[in-house]
Amino acid sequence: MSVNTLADLARRVAEYAGLDPPGWVLEARAKERAARVTDGNLDAYCAFLESDGGELDLLTEALRVGETRFFRHAAQVEALARRVIPERAAALSDGRDRLRAWSAGCASGEEAWTLAVQLAESGKPFELLATDISDAALAVARAGRYRIAAGDDVPPALRARHFTVENDQLVVNVTLRNKVRFERRNLLDAPYPRGFDLILCRNVLIYFEGARRDDVVARLAESLLPGGYLFLGYSETLRSHEHLFEALRDEGGVVYRRRDRPARIATPSAVPVVLPAGGQAIGQPPPRKRTETVKTFPPVATKVSSVRLRGSYDVADAARLTAELKPILDGTAQSVELDGAAFLGDEAARILARVAGAANGKVKLRAARASVRRWLSRHELDRLFLVDEGDK
Ligand SMILES: C[S@@+](CC[C@H](N)C(=O)[O-])C[C@H]1O[C@@H](n2cnc3c(N)ncnc32)[C@H](O)[C@@H]1O
Repeated sequence: MSVNTLADLARRVAEYAGLDPPGWVLEARAKERAARVTDGNLDAYCAFLESDGGELDLLTEALRVGETRFFRHAAQVEALARRVIPERAAALSDGRDRLRAWSAGCASGEEAWTLAVQLAESGKPFELLATDISDAALAVARAGRYRIAAGDDVPPALRARHFTVENDQLVVNVTLRNKVRFERRNLLDAPYPRGFDLILCRNVLIYFEGARRDDVVARLAESLLPGGYLFLGYSETLRSHEHLFEALRDEGGVVYRRRDRPARIATPSAVPVVLPAGGQAIGQPPPRKRTETVKTFPPVATKVSSVRLRGSYDVADAARLTAELKPILDGTAQSVELDGAAFLGDEAARILARVAGAANGKVKLRAARASVRRWLSRHELDRLFLVDEGDK
């Protein structure tokens, strides 16, 4: 495949769906599609993509990452039930008789049903919109039928109340099913629906190319009511959007609340508001540096096995880095030592951020070199991982 062909494919999937897959993933998936439609000829495949809109959907389907599960990021789900839903319920008024929530990028539905369970448990009337770009994922979501093991992380009492077991499948109860509307929606397409108390857009933006990610965040802010909440995945941050959202910290990590009106932020690196753990009052402590306020992820296991990075990690090394980090994803290693790396590029940061998401905050980065620590900070990886200086 020529560099131009790959760049052309990358541009198309970015423009169509916002996706920004690593080059090697794009190449592999495009080759698979080309093998089916143009006898493996990639230039012919590019021309075919131009003429057949449906093929772009199929390539997007092959590229999207649909990983999800019930009660994913459990501490966040807990924060939702304990703090966010009650706060938004208290904000209901005569003119607004129900909570409105949106699971944006719901994949096969587990996130939407998790949210629906928590809203139903609040006892308040609610409606929930769940959207994704993938028709295949939405078909699974609408059916509301999963493997029994998919329910392993659902607290038993909630599982008993909102699910039944039929023919060896875990089935969402009809009462809950009637509350959720699933729709195909591309987050790159305007306009967005509006008037939400709460939006979950978790583990979606991390796959997006930078400028489009920023655009989606700005539109999600407009979709929220003032004071409404945006939940992102553990490996995602709002970077330059502190003027639209205040970052609230809880045991569930950082969640974002839409400001009443956009703020002028003098020091974008400050986290403006911190929720004291377990307390109701929202204090206004003096601004602190991000790195000081966000290191709250769970402690790592005491017996730590490490992945040691060596040599250069530029764009072309993405596949090697992904392979080297496999022990982290398998759970056989719990820390990454970065000081041996001669070069760390942007793509390496993105791969590590994805690993942080998959590892749910259980992984530690070890770095003593100042340049490496600056790189971690620049890419906000110190918000996602515990960072220490390792064995000096
Ligand atoms: C990794 S899943 C996240 C599922 C769920 N939010 C969670 O955290 O468990 C990412 C989902 O985003 C969807 N997605 C990717 N690009 C999208 C787009 N442009 N518009 C809407 N959904 C998109 C994918 O189809 C996929 O189902």
